[in-house]
Amino acid sequence: MPERLKRAQKALEEKRKQVNETFRPHYHLSVPAGWLNDPNGFGFFQGRYHLFYQFHPYDSVWGAMHWGHWSGESLIEWREEPIALAPDKPFDEAGCYSGTSLAVDDTFYLAYTGVVEKADRKRLQQQCIAQSSDGIHFEKWKSNPVVKSTDLPPGASPYDFRDPKIEHFGNGYRMTVASKGERGGQLLSFYSENLQDWRYIGVYANELGAMAECPDLFRLDGKQVVIVGLMDYKEPDMPSNPVVYLVGSESEGTCQKEYDIKPVDWGADFYAPQTMLTPDGRRVLIGWAFGWGNVLPTHTLGHGWAGTMTLPRECTLREGRLIQNPIKEMEKKRGRAIRLEPFTVSEHRLLPECAGACREIQMLLDLKEAHSFTLYLMETGMEHFCLKYDKHTGTMTADRTQSGYQLTVNGTPDIHSVTKAPIQLEHGKLALRIFVDVSIIEIYVNDGALVMTHLAFPKGKNYGVSMSANGKAEILMLESFEML
Ligand code: FRU
Repeated sequence: MPERLKRAQKALEEKRKQVNETFRPHYHLSVPAGWLNDPNGFGFFQGRYHLFYQFHPYDSVWGAMHWGHWSGESLIEWREEPIALAPDKPFDEAGCYSGTSLAVDDTFYLAYTGVVEKADRKRLQQQCIAQSSDGIHFEKWKSNPVVKSTDLPPGASPYDFRDPKIEHFGNGYRMTVASKGERGGQLLSFYSENLQDWRYIGVYANELGAMAECPDLFRLDGKQVVIVGLMDYKEPDMPSNPVVYLVGSESEGTCQKEYDIKPVDWGADFYAPQTMLTPDGRRVLIGWAFGWGNVLPTHTLGHGWAGTMTLPRECTLREGRLIQNPIKEMEKKRGRAIRLEPFTVSEHRLLPECAGACREIQMLLDLKEAHSFTLYLMETGMEHFCLKYDKHTGTMTADRTQSGYQLTVNGTPDIHSVTKAPIQLEHGKLALRIFVDVSIIEIYVNDGALVMTHLAFPKGKNYGVSMSANGKAEILMLESFEML
C-alpha cells in the first residue's frame, strides 16, 4: 500500500477510537471519523455498488482531500473499504478533489481533480485518472494529468477547473468539467477515444453562478438532465449556493434547457449530489447533507467526525420536474409501525406514537379549513425543529433556531437557520414523508415533488413530535415507522 495511504488509514484507525457517537445517524451514511464532503465515484462494478467521498482523515474539518470508500451489495447495506486515494503524487499533492467513476469491462476507472499548490499558493486544478481491477485498490496513471490546464479554452481559469464527470459517449468517452470563465460558472466538454488522449470540444452550459461545481449529466425519461452546484448564485427565491437541475436536450454539444432551472433540494444542507444508474435501470441520487459556510457541532464539540450523506433517492421526471423519493429498499429498514385513525388538529397536540430519534413519518393533510400547519420535530422539552406550512403564501418554512446546538462558531451565524420552499397544494392536500435520524431530517413533500434536507443537533435525547394548526387541519392519514 502506498505510504500516504497507509498513513491516512492509520490516522483513521486512531481517530475512530476517539469518536463520540452521540449525533451519529443510524440509517444514513456518515464518515467514520474525520471530515467528509462530496459523494464521489458513485457507481456499480463487478456486482457491488461503490460510493467514494471527499475525505480528510486527520481532522473533522476540511483538509488535504483523500477519497474514502464504501461498497455494498445493495444501496442500503454498506461496508467500509480502505481509503482509495491519497494526495501523494506530483500531480495531486495538494488534494484529490471530487470526481466520478466509470466501469469499462473489467476495469473500474476513477476520474478526479488533481490539485497542486503553486509557489504563489494558487491551486492548479487538472483532471486525473486512477484504475482498479478489484474495485478496492486503485493505481493512478503515470500520464496524469490527462486533461491539463493547457487544454483549457481562452478565458477559463486553471484554478477553478474541477469535478470531472466521465461517461460513455459515441464510440468513446466524454468528460464534463466545471470551470470558471469570463462570464462565471460554465461546464466544458472534452472527448476521448481511449480515456488517455482528450480534446476540448466546447462549452456544454454556461451562466452557472460565479463558479459551477460537481456536474452530473444523465438521460432520464427521454430528456437530458444536468445537475450542478452554483456558487454565489443570487436568486432571491432559492437557497444560497443552490444545487440546481436543468432539463432539456443536447444539441450540437450543448445542453438546451426546456424548463426553468430549479433547486434539487430546498433545505439547509444539501450539496454536490451524484447519481448512478442501477442494474435494474433506476437513476439513484445521493448528496452531501451539508453546505459550505456553516460549522458542524460535531466538530466544535470535539466529537471527532463531521459529514453525513442523504438517503439514496430514486429520480424520475414529471413535466420537467425532478421527482425524488427514497429508494424502495428503505422500506426494509422499517421496524414497528403505527397507524393513527384520522383526526383534526387545531390546538397543540403531542404525538407520542411518533417519538424516537430514528423514524419515518408519513402523513396526508387536508388544509382546506386551516391557514397554517406546524409540525415540531426533534422536540426534547425546550427545543425543537419547526416545520410550518403557510397556505396564504404557499410557503414551507423550516426553522432550526430553537434546535439544540447551532451550526455556528465564534459568533458566526448559521447561514441557513431558516429556509423556505414554495409548495402549492392540490385540492387543499399536503403529503409529507419525513425521515428523522438523530441529527438529520429529510422531508419529502407531495410524493417527492420537493425535498428539504436539514441537519439539527438537539441537546436532549428523547425526541418527540407534536403539531398544531391555525384553523383546522384534517390529518387524513398518519403512519410512522421505527427505523432500524
Ligand atoms: C464541492 C467541492 C468541489 C471540490 C471539492 C473539494 O463541495 O468544492 O468542487 O472538488 O469540494 O473537496
